[in-house]
Amino acid sequence: MEIRGKVAVITGAGSGIGRATAGRLAREGASVVVADVDEAGGAETVKQIESAGGKAVFIRADVTSEGDSRRMLETATAKFGRLDILHNNAGIATGIPGFPKAALAQWRRVIEIDLNAMIMGTWLAAPIMEIGGGGAIVNTASMAGLYPHPLDPIYGAAKAGIVNFTHSLAPWAAERKIRVNCVCPGIVDTPMVRKGVEAAVKAGYKSWAPSQLLQADQIADAVVKLIGDDSLFGCSMEVRPSGPRIVEPRPAPGSRK
Ligand SMILES: NC(=O)c1ccc[n+]([C@@H]2O[C@H](COP(=O)([O-])OP(=O)(O)OC[C@H]3O[C@@H](n4cnc5c(N)ncnc54)[C@H](O)[C@@H]3O)[C@@H](O)[C@H]2O)c1
Repeated sequence: MEIRGKVAVITGAGSGIGRATAGRLAREGASVVVADVDEAGGAETVKQIESAGGKAVFIRADVTSEGDSRRMLETATAKFGRLDILHNNAGIATGIPGFPKAALAQWRRVIEIDLNAMIMGTWLAAPIMEIGGGGAIVNTASMAGLYPHPLDPIYGAAKAGIVNFTHSLAPWAAERKIRVNCVCPGIVDTPMVRKGVEAAVKAGYKSWAPSQLLQADQIADAVVKLIGDDSLFGCSMEVRPSGPRIVEPRPAPGSRK
């Protein structure tokens, strides 16, 4: 997919990975809908894009709300005339205390944002993209969805759900000319991680941050590759400090490829 002239919606674009992807897509010539619950963060992302000569608009949207999610996608068509790209990216970690001490409402919120809202975003965007002739969806999963994540099993479960949702949805989406892929970053230097490390240290845990953190721009590069490369369907892209690696889903036993 040629990114120039396309219209993208990015959730959680008021910070970290979402902001980096928004900036990168705008630099490549896409018009960007910056969606977030954080109004100040979203406004800052738009300011950065506009001052670099790009096109962006902010909408306050809680991705767990169907109404907000519909409005966020409608903003793309109302403001920029179409919807080609969705980066389902907003996410949270369980925080401290983690499982099993985290309150029921807290861990349900993690599943709601990190798994259910990404499914809902895809569910709402796919019909709009289909009418427009196709599109590309990238879900931000995590390495925590591919490998055990003892520090936050709830987060790991949500992200594993997104990985399998992405892999499993690919044939259905491809029939509608929509490519669905996910990016699985290692640990990235963003406010989410900085807050997590701070809280862990305060609670007496030893800091778990690895010596080599990824930068949000490295994840934005991977997202743009997943959007741009028309040969990628239903893939996960791991992003480690040593570089990105595509993981193709294994077909289920007895299934057609
Ligand atoms: N930072 C990492 O190490 C890392 C690694 C792997 C995956 N991820 C994933 O990357 C994504 C982005 O994380 P980040 O590190 O950039 O974090 P971040 O905290 O910097 O950004 C997340 C953004 O999502 C927004 N958000 C949270 N809940 C929302 C909601 N209900 N509706 C709309 N927006 C909401 C926040 O306001 C924030 O602006 C998340 O899905 C996260 O799980 C992060």
